Amino acid sequence: MAHLCSVYPFHADASFGERGVLMGANVTAGMGGFFFDPFEFYAQGHLTNPNMIVMGSVGFGKSATVKALVRRLKAVYGTGRYLAIVDPKGEYSSLAHDLGLTVVRLYPGGTDRVNPMDAGGGDQDGSVIARQNLAAQLVVGVLGRELSPLEDAVLGWAIERRCQSPVPFTLRDLCAEILDPPDELVRLSRHSPLELARATAPVTFALDKLCSRTLRGMFDGPTTVSIDWDNGPGVVLDLSTVYGNAEALPLVMVAATHWLTGALRGRPERRSVQVIDEAWAAVRHGASYFQSSLKLSRTYGVATVLVCHRPSDLTAQADDGTASAKIAAGLLSDIQTRVLLRQPPEQVALAAEMFDLTERERDWLGQLVQGRGIWRVGARSAVVHTVLTANERRLFDTDQAMVDQGDGPA
Ligand SMILES: Nc1ncnc2c1ncn2[C@@H]1O[C@H](COP(=O)(O)OP(=O)(O)O)[C@@H](O)[C@H]1O
Ligand SMILES: [Mg+2]
Repeated sequence: MAHLCSVYPFHADASFGERGVLMGANVTAGMGGFFFDPFEFYAQGHLTNPNMIVMGSVGFGKSATVKALVRRLKAVYGTGRYLAIVDPKGEYSSLAHDLGLTVVRLYPGGTDRVNPMDAGGGDQDGSVIARQNLAAQLVVGVLGRELSPLEDAVLGWAIERRCQSPVPFTLRDLCAEILDPPDELVRLSRHSPLELARATAPVTFALDKLCSRTLRGMFDGPTTVSIDWDNGPGVVLDLSTVYGNAEALPLVMVAATHWLTGALRGRPERRSVQVIDEAWAAVRHGASYFQSSLKLSRTYGVATVLVCHRPSDLTAQADDGTASAKIAAGLLSDIQTRVLLRQPPEQVALAAEMFDLTERERDWLGQLVQGRGIWRVGARSAVVHTVLTANERRLFDTDQAMVDQGDGPA
């Protein structure tokens, strides 16, 4: 691969310029430096959104690439790049220590709690809608089916009503509200109180399960952590104690992401990079949730980086080919920077179709060595080798963590 540029000199891409941080060598442009920053590229018109996806098989350098990017962004832009990281494997601690990020460890029975029903920042309407979407997504996750129109409406009304008061509320309060609905809600539903109670029982069961089991001790009470959103360098939400729980993990990740996004919405003047590592675990179950949160990026200056394993992560939840193609296309239309690391042979055809790869890129995809990826930045493309310093190799090493923790659920 290192010699590709001499083998295919006609393919050598023009340089991407030198805005952003040096990530490593541009293999397809004579091994020159490759610089990147989603916001600089966005400002220059190379991208219509600053979101990224990093995709590749386990161990080929997805997390290391993201860690190198955020660490260098911090070095170059300082407080001009706020970092918000969802860390399902608990592998960002050394980086957090190095950069002075606050680490919030969420686990049942722990002292750190975050309340996904916090208002967050941004405009009030957006905040209400975000909370309605999240609650619906969590309930859908527990029930394993879509909500009926009445269930959806009652959940939405209950949240809207609570949001009208300045008093903060939690998922537990929401459950209580639906269990014992105020007259106004009963009237709106055009059902008798008994009918309404019957019809919304699944929602209260689901909320109760979320509070007493799935999210217990992490997302079911008032927020206890205090984070300097204005002047601090950033935050890592460590979810590693839930990583082995395939049922809870997607819901915990969606709740964590929602809470971070809410806080970031309040600072549109600042640029934030929100990393969702191992995002495949949540995206498979909540593609529509992520789709709506990706759309916020332009308004609120948040670049979201989703880390996935394979193209099928974006389609696995759909039953038929058409629906899955739609979901993937919907998500990808809001992610203009795609970094493709090595894929197993059986994923190459799907990747080629999903990312519209050239024949040459398709051949490379199955052979890329660790740390090397096809970077699709808007309309341009390059093969880039992320070069780590000795210090970064030490900070980013996950091999030991893998030995200690196993590789989590498939
Ligand atoms: N570009 C690179 N140069 C040197 N080592 C790397 C590079 N990318 C990854 N590694 C090492 O490989 C191991 C696995 O990388 P990691 O990024 O954790 O994989 P993934 O997130 O894709 O599963 C880590 O120990 C990391 O330090
Ligand atoms: Mg990783």
